Amino acid sequence: MRVLVTGAGGQLGRELVQAFDGHEVVALDHARGDVTDRDAVLQAVTTVAPEAVVHAAAWTAVDACEGDPDRAYRVNALGTRHVADAARRVGAQVCFVSTDYVFDGSKPEPYVEWDPPNPASVYGRSKLAGERELDPGAILVRTSWVCGRHGHNMVKTILRLAGEHDELTFVDDQRGHPTFADDLATMIRRLVLERRRGLYHVTNQGAVSWFEFARAVLDAAGLEPNRVKPIATADLDPPRPAPRPPNSVLDNAALRLGGVALLPHFSEPLGRLVAELRRSP
Ligand SMILES: NC(=O)c1ccc[n+]([C@@H]2O[C@H](COP(=O)([O-])OP(=O)(O)OC[C@H]3O[C@@H](n4cnc5c(N)ncnc54)[C@H](OP(=O)(O)O)[C@@H]3O)[C@@H](O)[C@H]2O)c1
Repeated sequence: MRVLVTGAGGQLGRELVQAFDGHEVVALDHARGDVTDRDAVLQAVTTVAPEAVVHAAAWTAVDACEGDPDRAYRVNALGTRHVADAARRVGAQVCFVSTDYVFDGSKPEPYVEWDPPNPASVYGRSKLAGERELDPGAILVRTSWVCGRHGHNMVKTILRLAGEHDELTFVDDQRGHPTFADDLATMIRRLVLERRRGLYHVTNQGAVSWFEFARAVLDAAGLEPNRVKPIATADLDPPRPAPRPPNSVLDNAALRLGGVALLPHFSEPLGRLVAELRRSP
């Protein structure tokens, strides 16, 4: 299959390019394919004429989005319109990567694909607007708390902080599913190659708070997990500009009910990543 990946320089994008190894992959990073540039997107997609476009490009700086909604909507919503429009012209299926932040987090149970979204942040609203640019034949993958070997993410941050401070504090009132970019890319590959359609929640399994996750990271690195102490989001100083959903646990219901094996518990890829970061930090 010929596949074009947007956001190919990002932490997920780089794993996606690798996951489609063996197929014809065209990697469009920010420099070569700015999704806000309609002409550039149309030209790139119509020249390549892929069978599928995995659209992973996004402005993911959640707090910065709060201060610049125009930029958030330009990249995450209008950029997705450009990608969807270009893909339509060459008959390519779009797979759009969206976020747990489309939910406000007030539901006590995990969110299923059929729950109504109600984003609390600019980032979440702009990604939901992107979802709404897609044709019904598209694949929509919502994921959460993405970590991996490329780029910045919480595993690297936690390990860095552990090297700098004796005691670490993390919030204990935001829960989600940590998801590892290589596992996520593998599932996206499967959904694309099987030409599935519709909305899928795709995460690693194992719901934790950030506090519990930070402890798991230290434990995986052979460090003392009790060095991590819990705090409440309300006690963060300074408070973060964008509200986070207290519950962003995504039930992978469409996969589960469809009999597709879910991604493993996060401890498995976490162990793999920590070992890899040790070898080459
Ligand atoms: N990270 C998470 O926890 C998380 C959670 C849920 C969903 N997601 C979604 O997963 C996808 C991948 O995220 P990620 O974690 O891989 O984030 P990432 O590392 O920030 O990757 C996003 C990529 O998009 C690029 N980009 C930004 N603006 C662009 C533009 N105008 N045109 C083209 N490319 C542009 C970025 O390039 P520059 O760095 O050069 O700007 C970056 O390489 C995104 O759609 C995100 O919304 C992420």
